[in-house]
Amino acid sequence: MSFDHFDYKGVRFAKELHTEESVSRAENEFEVFDDDIYNVTYPKSGTNWMIEVLNLIKHKGDVTKSDVLSIQMRSPWYEAVRFYESIEKMESPRILSSHLPHHIFAKSYFKSKAKIIYTIRNPRDVIVSMFHFTKILSMFTPTENLQDFIDDFIQGKALYGSWFDHVKGWMQMKDDERFFFITYEELLQDLRGSVVRICKFLGQELDDAQIDSVVKHSTFKTMKENPMSNWSQIPSEVLDQSKGAFMRKGISGDWKNHFTVAQSEYFDKIYQEKMKDFNMSFFWEQSS
Ligand code: A3P
Repeated sequence: MSFDHFDYKGVRFAKELHTEESVSRAENEFEVFDDDIYNVTYPKSGTNWMIEVLNLIKHKGDVTKSDVLSIQMRSPWYEAVRFYESIEKMESPRILSSHLPHHIFAKSYFKSKAKIIYTIRNPRDVIVSMFHFTKILSMFTPTENLQDFIDDFIQGKALYGSWFDHVKGWMQMKDDERFFFITYEELLQDLRGSVVRICKFLGQELDDAQIDSVVKHSTFKTMKENPMSNWSQIPSEVLDQSKGAFMRKGISGDWKNHFTVAQSEYFDKIYQEKMKDFNMSFFWEQSS
């Protein structure tokens, strides 16, 4: 995966989005408020889906209030330089996104009462989603060969570094009451049940009709058709959706249409090695 980058504390960042100073600022100076909610993910794991869900929950399912801004402006990435100004103007309670790993996350978070929702996705599907994304986002030089892409991903040369380190780092917080984790696959399997669990974690009381509305407006189909959510407001020089949609397939298991048997076995072996000290098993380990 090729993009202009620098490494900070073992993690790969894109120069298009960050500078070393900006990452250091995000880590050391960013002020977390107690009522903030952080939507944290490794890229291509359902970040935008969770932005939609969380903003709809905040507005009790009222899409006319939730979707007044494009999806990125609703919950900007707090570490990205281009969002600094808009974040300063945000009203509390803020819902912010981040792809930062645990060891670089805002230090002030760890002294706060702010909540984190961490969404995890089968890394095989993350690879496939990212592989397609690099073909449409101008800051990447697309990799034609999936094997090279898989190797870069395994070696932590992808945007925001190693998936394995990201997941293991964040999951150290799994028993913390300010931390809630969910998988992309659970969202797909039972969106309504997931929304109910997220509401409970956030202490938000929504009635059945409000929950129905959150679900209705955060399905793949609705988001793909919603210009406030499908990234169509991003200029085509930056994101060329004539080559492929940002809201691409929205399914689990698409990796099976891309990986060869050999690639699948190769990835399984690496996965097992890298996750051997991690004593939790995810949905895809039973079904992949
Ligand atoms: P695919 O490329 O596999 O389709 P992120 O927001 O972290 O960049 O993740 C993007 C991935 O989430 C894309 O996956 C996108 O289609 C999928 N996605 C976004 N909204 C979704 C939704 N409502 N339901 C299912 N998948 C969704």
